[in-house]
Amino acid sequence: MDTFTVLSSLAEPRRLRRYMGALAVALLGSASQGALAECEYSIDNSWNSGFVAAVRVTNDSASTVDGWQVQWQYSGDNRITNHWSSQISGNNPYTAGNAPWNGTLQPGQSVVFGFQGTSSGTAEVPEVSGALCDSGNSSSSSSSSSSSSSSSSSSSSSSSSSSSSSSSSSGGSTEHLYSLAAFPVGVAVSAGNESRSFLIIPEKQDSIARHFSQLTAGNIMKMSYLHPSENTYDFANADEMVNWASANGIGVHGHTFIWHSDYQVPSWMNSYSGDFQAMMNDHVSTIADHFAGRVESWDVVNEAIDENQSNCYRNSLFYQRLGSSYIAEAFNAADAADPNADLYYNDYDTEGGNSNKLDCLLQIVDDLQANNAPIDGVGFQMHVQIDWPSTSQMRTAFQAIVDRGLKVKLTELDVPVNNPYASTPFPQHTSYTPEVAALQKARYKSIVEAYLDVVPAHLRGGITVWGLWDGDSWLLDFDERQGADDWPLLFSGPANGPYEEKAALDGVAEALTGQ
Ligand code: XIL
Repeated sequence: MDTFTVLSSLAEPRRLRRYMGALAVALLGSASQGALAECEYSIDNSWNSGFVAAVRVTNDSASTVDGWQVQWQYSGDNRITNHWSSQISGNNPYTAGNAPWNGTLQPGQSVVFGFQGTSSGTAEVPEVSGALCDSGNSSSSSSSSSSSSSSSSSSSSSSSSSSSSSSSSSGGSTEHLYSLAAFPVGVAVSAGNESRSFLIIPEKQDSIARHFSQLTAGNIMKMSYLHPSENTYDFANADEMVNWASANGIGVHGHTFIWHSDYQVPSWMNSYSGDFQAMMNDHVSTIADHFAGRVESWDVVNEAIDENQSNCYRNSLFYQRLGSSYIAEAFNAADAADPNADLYYNDYDTEGGNSNKLDCLLQIVDDLQANNAPIDGVGFQMHVQIDWPSTSQMRTAFQAIVDRGLKVKLTELDVPVNNPYASTPFPQHTSYTPEVAALQKARYKSIVEAYLDVVPAHLRGGITVWGLWDGDSWLLDFDERQGADDWPLLFSGPANGPYEEKAALDGVAEALTGQ
């Protein structure tokens, strides 16, 4: 359970399987002895005012490396605003060091970390230096700094790929799922006093740190957990989770400031008789302020839509007291308290299968934009079925948000194999056969493909799965599912691990690597 135990278990030799990002890549660092470049800076996407880029660090030496560090400097005005899968310090020049779980590189193994930045036109390809970049046959242990490299005619973006064919391919296993994406790859976790808290299950910490670059609290950052009485905020459990994430180089997506759900609206709020707007703003800004700099994005308002209401607004406590303007107010309060966090509107059944609900989503988003509310993106929960909605419907929904210049984040993805609403008798599958696994893999893959096809890199807020392994899924408690097993997630048990990657995870990995 202590960090040391987790880190030492991570230091064991790992399965190797390389997924190369394609794209224009500048090969930097010396290429002595005909070795391929060891540090590659690539631009995944760029637009007028920003860019998303990644650096691949490869251990081309003959020995294992424990800890790595690289540096670079932009000659122009490119500046980094957020990053994942490494610890970045400095402000041009920048230094990036390994996160605690990706410092060990076996000979031939590589790691990719990503970041987003601002520019005023040109996304630069700077020269990356560091012990691993500078020496074709460097020995082990880096973490030494600099030794800026000479060689390497920077830029000259030869479009490489495959710096080495994956040495070992132990049967469809993925080294680090997060390293295949230049955006956050997240997982929802139980924490605090929850019985399945990842903080008391070392194997969970291991799998989470190995594969994910972002956490969402499945419950403990909801309203009544953080704000149990009018004058009491309880941040202890959430702080513990967020601190673990920071210590492991993992980001956090906050969920959620405002949610109608009965069990989450604190009872004192229901009977609040003072200035409701001031109280709500205070609730949002106190929480946003507390986590500012540690939580990279928030679901500001969750599930405000009722598509059966003529005006689309759910008749929640907040709507009853404040009318529809509470949504924009919540965004304003969050933005004032933490201008750097990305702010999302989050909802379910908006993925395109329910066209009335999608219409409502677009109406609400349009209203927010017309009122200049500081919304950065839309979260699609993605509690989808194995056969519903179609991926073409999803594409339409994602596209509508992209067309509005907003980020798209898949915030709570799970894919149960049984559909209680289907026309065929439920449960359709009573055991998790290879055929069912293949079906689910294909479904996960096509969802991620749809996301990548439709959402340009700078608008990809990330993809989060709602739980680590099948036994953690909230769907197990769902009445409609009649106690049937659904195997909806990317890993299988046992309860305390070790957790095993399912074919579903291969499906995500294949989509991310364009296979
Ligand atoms: C769920 C949790 O996973 C459960 O543990 C809890 O009992 C109920 O809430 N949409 C959301 C999430 O935005 O907050 C919900 O999480 C799942 C549906």
